[in-house]
Amino acid sequence: MNERLSWQRCDDCGRELDELDPAPRCPSCSGLLAVLHRAPALRGTALQADFADACCARPSPSASGVWRFGEVVLPTAVEVAVSHPEGNTPLLSRRRLSEWAGVESLQLKHEGHNPTGSFKDRGMTVGVTQAKRIGARAVACASTGNTAASLASYAAHAGLPALVFIPKGQVALGKLTQTLAYGAKTLVVESDFDGCLRLAQAAADELGIYLLNSINPFRLEGQKTIVLELLQQCGWEPPEWIVLPAGNLGNTAAFGKALDEAMAWGLIARRPRIAAVQAVGAAPFAAAFDRGFDRLETVQAETIATAIKIGAPASYGRAVRAIRNSDGCVLSVTDNQILEAKATIDRAGVGCEPASAASLAGVKALWARGVIREGERVVAILTGHILKDPGILQQMHQADEGGAAWTNRPIPIQPTIAAVRRVLDATIG
Ligand code: F0G
Repeated sequence: MNERLSWQRCDDCGRELDELDPAPRCPSCSGLLAVLHRAPALRGTALQADFADACCARPSPSASGVWRFGEVVLPTAVEVAVSHPEGNTPLLSRRRLSEWAGVESLQLKHEGHNPTGSFKDRGMTVGVTQAKRIGARAVACASTGNTAASLASYAAHAGLPALVFIPKGQVALGKLTQTLAYGAKTLVVESDFDGCLRLAQAAADELGIYLLNSINPFRLEGQKTIVLELLQQCGWEPPEWIVLPAGNLGNTAAFGKALDEAMAWGLIARRPRIAAVQAVGAAPFAAAFDRGFDRLETVQAETIATAIKIGAPASYGRAVRAIRNSDGCVLSVTDNQILEAKATIDRAGVGCEPASAASLAGVKALWARGVIREGERVVAILTGHILKDPGILQQMHQADEGGAAWTNRPIPIQPTIAAVRRVLDATIG
């Protein structure tokens, strides 16, 4: 056991399991499992330099923005990784978005640039690699859409059968289309996401399928690299704030773990504060924060941001620790604030799916409340690509009735220059 690089440990009772143990939860107490690693041989600036070398010097698997951090993700799996590759997403600044939110130093880390268009690919490359290593016969997940698309893609890459559970009528068209096209068996359940997750967990237990929801600890190891990569892009000078949309809270938990480790391994000298943003109609985490995290009260979720339409978040306890340890906060924004933020991001030419825009709406709200202060640097995470949810445009037009700020309908014309001129004149005045 002294030689081990990585192992699993129960959050609740501390029981340790081998790295290759396929148990979905702690066999003793059903607590969530975490992957732990031996501290890397290098620390501080030497470890930073090692990550920098991995970016440019080594070919695959270092082409991946996940596996080039392999030593702190899953060192024993780097050579057998199921990778597209993924990660290496841009950090964007747009003056218009800074002005809109009120925060001068604002950057957006756009995870929609991943191969299936969301941050889920960072977790799924590790999760599906682990499924291969333990010899899983099939993989499964419940999903509001992005996890399903990502699992379907990586399972196809690995040659593993995939089963996804999605809530009927609540998954955006782009995500459903991807999942079907990549070939996953797509089970449309008469329930919401929370019901799908319960069913997927029960089915995985009964039928011996490897579950790849974000309670899977290997997924979180991959998602940590969003934070590692953004810190690297900031020259290891952390921003004051990292702001992200939150639903099932796997990502918030992963961000907390990434910051714990980055501090422990001397990658950063100061911990940024995490702000998690929920939609008002799906905000059990924000409500718990307002009550001092006394308890989680689940809700019947309702929001146009279907990716985060979740009422019973699975990683609540871990996410609480992430917020507490970083002196962070949790807030909720209305669907209209989300749509306004999305329209602003889209019109800046950046684009994202609705749930992603919750992060920018959250930045604006935190600035307005004086929580984000003058001179503080903010990185907001855009979690998904604009093409994920094409149907939302219709809803934006309805919400914008009379406003004309967001509305941009196709213009039918006759095939004449006169018709084109009319449009041009009306456009440029
Ligand atoms: N943003 C997007 C675009 C998402 O798809 C999700 C989660 C989140 C934010 C929230 O992340 O759940 O870790 O707090 N989507 C999951 C799915 C639930 O099934 O695709 P979280």
